[in-house]
Amino acid sequence: MKKISSIRIKPRFAAILKIFGFLIVLFLAIFIFYRYQISTLTKLEYSEEASNKILFSGYKRKVLDIGKSKTLNAAFESEYFKEKYLNNYAKIKYIEQDHLIENINKLLKVGYSNHEINIILSHGTSESVSEFAKRDKVRYLEEYFSYDFAKLENYDRYIQYSDETGEDELETILYINLNLDKPDYEYTELVKDFSIDMLINKHRNLGEDFVPEDLTTIPSEYAAENDFECSRLALNAFIEMNNAATKDGYSLIINSAYRSYQDQVDLVELYRRSYGDSYVEKYVALPGFSEHQTGLAFDIGSRRSNIFANSKEYIWMKDNAYKYGFVMRYDERYQDLTEFRKEPWHYRYVGKDIAKYIYEHNNMSLEEYFVIFLDK
Ligand code: DAL
Ligand code: ZN
Repeated sequence: MKKISSIRIKPRFAAILKIFGFLIVLFLAIFIFYRYQISTLTKLEYSEEASNKILFSGYKRKVLDIGKSKTLNAAFESEYFKEKYLNNYAKIKYIEQDHLIENINKLLKVGYSNHEINIILSHGTSESVSEFAKRDKVRYLEEYFSYDFAKLENYDRYIQYSDETGEDELETILYINLNLDKPDYEYTELVKDFSIDMLINKHRNLGEDFVPEDLTTIPSEYAAENDFECSRLALNAFIEMNNAATKDGYSLIINSAYRSYQDQVDLVELYRRSYGDSYVEKYVALPGFSEHQTGLAFDIGSRRSNIFANSKEYIWMKDNAYKYGFVMRYDERYQDLTEFRKEPWHYRYVGKDIAKYIYEHNNMSLEEYFVIFLDK
């Protein structure tokens, strides 16, 4: 009895083993085949997650034809993947940005081409990109937004200004970003924090109570009067520059430095009475709008000549001031940006890096430097 039953179990057991073995081999083969398929994608730098999606949703052939694409990889990883945009994803340059695929979808929907989307993406943050998606397609996208300091919120003003004046895109962006299409002294931004790269002009002002944080008295040997004050940083730089000028045989003097809000009130009043409104408009900033209030500006003179522009000191300053962090602030070449006439004597401390950059770039205005690098 025992024997018979053991004989009966054995073949069943063997059959089960066989099926089991077959299944294991089958699973193993499927697994190896699956891993092989995945590896063809991971070799192209698709992630495991993206590769699985590609494989199981039947896009493998297409993706292998396309080859490597970080954006396509991100699209497959994202819940926003849209099949109809697959070829677009592949042609759009990847950029590390939140909501990338969601934003690309939106921009494609508005009607932007892949090339235009590349410009928009490289131009800004996720928020600024989604602003593009919220409005109708921008017509002159490449013309303006190849400049990464062009601002979408200013686009309509760019178009209006360039239509009216015929100015090119760069000039237009500079002009509008500086709010020069708006009335002087009315459309303004209040600058609260002291910094050596602060920009003060007819559209960017200081409050009545703004005083530079490191205000210090200028030793009388450097200045035309005893009680002049300025920022300590600017004074140190001036002393360094003055030492170099003296060594080269030149003789500088500070004729005006820090001026408080009230000083500027008095100055404007004086010049209005003496020379009239039109002079003030061209040469004297209204209170709050003078960079003398920053403590970083000096009116520099020559001890040997009453007219600075005719002095050897002026020539020396032109080639050397930048080495100590100073730039000449008001030049006739860009008086449409500064909105003041040429003032050969007015120097501004901006630090050595900025001054060097400005010197090496055809002495561009601080306004231009600000728009390109600081106004983010
Ligand atoms: N003269 C310059 C513009 C000022 O008043 O600040
Ligand atoms: Zn000045």
